[in-house]
Amino acid sequence: MSDTNVRPVPGDFASEAHIDNETYHEMYRCSIEEPEVFWAEQAKKFIDWESPWSEINTFDFMTGEASWFTDGKLNVTVNCIDRHLATKGDQTAIIWEGDDPEESAYITYNELSEQVNKLANVLKSRGVKRGDRVCIYMPMIQEAVYAMLATARIGAVHSVVFGGFSPDALKDRILDSDCQVVITSDEGLRGGKKVPLKANADAALRHCPNVHTCIVVERTRGLVEWNEKRDVWYHEAIAEAKDYCPPEHMDAEDPLFILYTSGSTGKPKGVLHTTAGYLLQAAMTHKYVFDYKEGDVYWCTADVGWVTGHSYIVYGPLCNGAITLIFEGVPTYPDASRFWQVVEKHKVNIFYTAPTAIRSLMGAGDEFVTNTDRSSLRLLGTVGEPINPEAWEWYYKVVGEERCPIVDTWWQTETGAHMLTPLPGAIDMKPGCATVPFFGVQPVLLDTDGKEIEGPGEGNLAIKASWPSQIRGVYGDMGRYQETYFSAFKGYYFTGDGARRDEDGHYWITGRVDDVLNVSGHRMGTAEVESALVLHPKVAEAAVVGCPHDIKGQGIYAYVTLMSGEEPSDELRKELISICVKEIGPIAKPDYIHWAPGLPKTRSGKIMRRILRKIAANELENLGDTSTLADPSVVDDLIENRLIR
Ligand code: WT7
Repeated sequence: MSDTNVRPVPGDFASEAHIDNETYHEMYRCSIEEPEVFWAEQAKKFIDWESPWSEINTFDFMTGEASWFTDGKLNVTVNCIDRHLATKGDQTAIIWEGDDPEESAYITYNELSEQVNKLANVLKSRGVKRGDRVCIYMPMIQEAVYAMLATARIGAVHSVVFGGFSPDALKDRILDSDCQVVITSDEGLRGGKKVPLKANADAALRHCPNVHTCIVVERTRGLVEWNEKRDVWYHEAIAEAKDYCPPEHMDAEDPLFILYTSGSTGKPKGVLHTTAGYLLQAAMTHKYVFDYKEGDVYWCTADVGWVTGHSYIVYGPLCNGAITLIFEGVPTYPDASRFWQVVEKHKVNIFYTAPTAIRSLMGAGDEFVTNTDRSSLRLLGTVGEPINPEAWEWYYKVVGEERCPIVDTWWQTETGAHMLTPLPGAIDMKPGCATVPFFGVQPVLLDTDGKEIEGPGEGNLAIKASWPSQIRGVYGDMGRYQETYFSAFKGYYFTGDGARRDEDGHYWITGRVDDVLNVSGHRMGTAEVESALVLHPKVAEAAVVGCPHDIKGQGIYAYVTLMSGEEPSDELRKELISICVKEIGPIAKPDYIHWAPGLPKTRSGKIMRRILRKIAANELENLGDTSTLADPSVVDDLIENRLIR
């Protein structure tokens, strides 16, 4: 592929950006060749410390162990709140935009401080101590941010569970990390529809005997059931709480949060992040990648239930004393103009969203964009999946009026912060390309034997050395941590993604090379969906693969084999879809259910997913070698009845 489609940094952006091309190269060099110097400088610049570190960094990628700023002491909320109060107490910290366009709120740093301190005291009064886990299951309201920060203030560890997850998924996550306190809300509100969060939590908590406290934020005033012993209204608890709670002095390597994410096998794993390295890389990337300047209004459209919300709605922006916008609703409510109306209303300067949202809005037509005033916008960003060039062009031309650079940021729940991305004033853009590594990041491409590929080429994307916001473990299962990330290629962190490096040394992500789906930027293991499907008594076997999908990027294509004597029906299809919704959540609804009398298997019984992926994608030219199949005729039947043509 030729990479002639290079888009230079627009107009005067480069001269005003924090980092220009020369500075990028010099800082990158320093970060790799003189890490001690580089990181000491950045850590002092971005973070206020209670006491200094004794060592910048040690790591061992044979085991995955890593430590950054060893022995340093700090509190994340001092950095995100207290230190800003003297100069920015009255500045807006959070702009909240409600689902209803008539509703919004501005929360200053002083108000943020008061709320977080009070809630921290409430948590303490309910017995929460340093190291305890607190589950947060919330809609996109400011109290979700307060809950995260209040937990961090007292040294407890939050586990935010996306509000779109089902009671079963919530229960699994609460139990896995033994959370004893849950913070939720009566209901959420999205696109004019109510989401029964408290009812979901009640259903989950029936199986979680260790949860002694459930703090409930009043959002819609919908009717909820009440457990006098366990449930507490947020507003009532806050009303009695003191407005100062001394911050716990945390060690640089103390856990800050757990966030569950899907892998290619088994149940979701609790990705563990620690304090200093995570905060530093979140703050640095927020400033440099988004070229954040004092007073900019910055909006990341992610949900706080995902890592993007953690790093780029909460920790990065607040550490930098920024104005961060949080949006309760959806891009298409009341209509497909909503994002741009919010940009106009709050004069948003920096806007960060996912390719799936861009594609769905692109489909609605340009008028929804051009009807609005987007002259405040200075920079655009994307995250979550590779962005296709058509969507990139539309984002660039129609949304950004060819004025705003686009930063295509590649990273993962496990990496904690951006890893590959153009810096907007420094690196020319290529539609669909995540371009260059951030400071301190050493990407490599490995061939199937684990040998590093030099120069242009394609291979498995791995990282050669630790970076500050690296995952530190899988909660409660270090064996799984090593197995998942540090065993495929000895001595490297393996990302699970494939990538291509072009003539300029720039990286193009080609997608997951493992059994992980990326549906609308949401990560899901094929194994999770399969386990849900086989719970149905009429299902003998299920195999799930990704398939091309115009809006979602990837759709869910499920091959289902029924028990003998059972017949496929529309009824059964609906039952299977609802089982996935119940076990995981609405994002796990299969797009296609293919009734398969048999699945292609090797003689040793292993399902040949490669073939299933090709049939689902309607790519029939080279199905590869089917001679090792136990029964090759199965494939002909699947092809004949394929659902995408
Ligand atoms: C997977 C990680 C990190 C925040 C959102 C998702 C894919 C992410 C890009 C990008 C191509 C991307 C990768 C990665 N991905 N960003 N800019 N270009 N692919 O976090 O749920 O942990 O998913 O998302 O496949 O491995 P996540």
